[in-house]
Amino acid sequence: MRLNPELGRNLRLAKESEKALVSKLRVVPLFSGLRDKQLRRIAAGGRQRAYKEGQAIVSEGEAGVGFYLIMDGAVEVRRAGKVLAKLGAGNFFGEMSLLDRNPRSSDVVAVSPTTCLVLTSWQFQGIVEDNSGIALNLLKTLVHRLREANKSLVD
Ligand code: CMP
Repeated sequence: MRLNPELGRNLRLAKESEKALVSKLRVVPLFSGLRDKQLRRIAAGGRQRAYKEGQAIVSEGEAGVGFYLIMDGAVEVRRAGKVLAKLGAGNFFGEMSLLDRNPRSSDVVAVSPTTCLVLTSWQFQGIVEDNSGIALNLLKTLVHRLREANKSLVD
């Protein structure tokens, strides 16, 4: 049976964009130590979403259904009119609600045109369960954020 040329072209383009995404994921600190097979699974499972400057990605108090890895751009984490952190490419957010099942702890707003790779809560959970290295990398980032928060309390 002959493959429809349009379908063949689309499949090739999809493969190429998955390859490009895997190359980007390879240098993300959260995924350091993962094999290409695991990165390919993440790339195939996630959805890339684009946000405009000023657009709210996550809002304080809502239920958490996604994990966000910033591929491009920048976001601010805000609460009660204060900026808690600014995060850029390679950083992530949205893990807190997925880990403890509490509502979103703060707003996250794009401060420039931003693209995120979004994973559902069950994809995120599966990836963490399958790769103990990711759990350790997550902990390292959470420790860093706690240190920064403690510092800002006494500064
Ligand atoms: P979550 O509570 O699911 O949604 C808001 C997200 O903002 C939160 O997960 C973290 O990913 C992120 N966040 C909250 N507080 C901080 C902080 N102090 N520094 C960096 N990121 C934060």
